Amino acid sequence: MVSHETVQALIDGLLSAIGAAPGVPHNSDIEPLLLALKCEGEPTGVRAKGGMPALDHLPVAIQNAGSGPDEIRSLAESFEKLADSLPWYQRQEPALPDFMHGHANAFIIGPQGLEERGGVTVGVSFLAPGVEYPNHNHPPQELYVVMSDGDWRQNDDPWHAPGLGGLVYNPANITHSMRSSQQPLLAIWCLWT
Ligand SMILES: [Fe+2]
Repeated sequence: MVSHETVQALIDGLLSAIGAAPGVPHNSDIEPLLLALKCEGEPTGVRAKGGMPALDHLPVAIQNAGSGPDEIRSLAESFEKLADSLPWYQRQEPALPDFMHGHANAFIIGPQGLEERGGVTVGVSFLAPGVEYPNHNHPPQELYVVMSDGDWRQNDDPWHAPGLGGLVYNPANITHSMRSSQQPLLAIWCLWT
């Protein structure tokens, strides 16, 4: 079981990365998220689960994150320390075998994560090289902290590459997706209402 200090280090790194990002999108209000992340964590007892083939690429993504801003390198180092303790899962898309083979998600904070904190959900999405995460939407608003090269899209807008350390804000219920480049894609996301 991962220690509270290890989870706290990741949250501290996440707050630093958000604070250092080039700019929070103008239409977002991330203050409730930041307040919730600063709450004390309550361990859930959720157990690690893994084994997805995409995760073989995770060490490369961690290494690539080292070429980003200091906050992203540090966040990736904190993430690496708990990656094996996470309850990894896959989004079920049986009609998309390349996606199924090439992705893994995990909850970090929330009822299905390692700790509960202030009612928010924090998780990670990981894509092997050359994989597209299908369009999806959800009622909570969302902030991605981008830790790899790769593209993001909302609705039918053009793909754009936020770059390492960039943020992507998705308003509630907006349709969105992402895709990896020739390198794997690692991103931490936060959901709040
Ligand atoms: Fe999302």
